[in-house]
Amino acid sequence: MDLKYGNPAREPFVTNVGLITSNGKHGHDVMAAEWTFQISYDPGLIAVSIGPGKATFENITETKYFGVSIAAEDQTAISSIAGGSSGKKVNKVEALKDMGFTFHTGKHFDVLLVDEAALIVECKLVDQVVRGDHTMFIGEVVSVLHDKDKKPLIYHEGKYWSVGEELPKPTNEERGNMKAFVEKHAR
Ligand SMILES: Cc1cc2nc3c(=O)[nH]c(=O)nc-3n(C[C@H](O)[C@H](O)[C@H](O)COP(=O)(O)O)c2cc1C
Repeated sequence: MDLKYGNPAREPFVTNVGLITSNGKHGHDVMAAEWTFQISYDPGLIAVSIGPGKATFENITETKYFGVSIAAEDQTAISSIAGGSSGKKVNKVEALKDMGFTFHTGKHFDVLLVDEAALIVECKLVDQVVRGDHTMFIGEVVSVLHDKDKKPLIYHEGKYWSVGEELPKPTNEERGNMKAFVEKHAR
């Protein structure tokens, strides 16, 4: 079966928006990728699933590095510009600069990183794995800038959201009951 864009079965997924920056034959570029995940603590690894033919795909394949700026909740415009056209047709970085958004260059690589993002990392490509109709680019984190005051932008049902209310964890009494069930079914 497929789970194509627009299929209501995709609605329960909640993701964030990685602003994936790259450099290479298409010049400096930025794309939006909701499929951006941390997949290892040590070393810190981030996987980004990218469709074929995208400028970002070709840039990263060529240079073996990329930037991940996790969009903050006041960066919906950056996400929509980065996800709305290809770097093959539009210089999105210049368009965003023209709109007043700013970037800085990475410490390790000649890649632009999005200022004011919730988390900003540079990644060295360590693996590239084709899975279905996307390719996972797995990058090892080589620099980190974290602004704990910035809340990450949430992407859900094709719309932008802010982080909702924190829910209480189970009470001690509930945990006591839960423990009894877990112990009852111990192997
Ligand atoms: C919020 C949002 C999330 C997206 N997530 C992904 C994703 O995870 N993977 C992907 O390949 N494309 C994703 N896209 C689409 C790309 O951002 C889009 O195809 C973009 O034009 C690619 O740019 P490029 O050709 O400059 O690399 C997303 C778009 C938006 C708006």
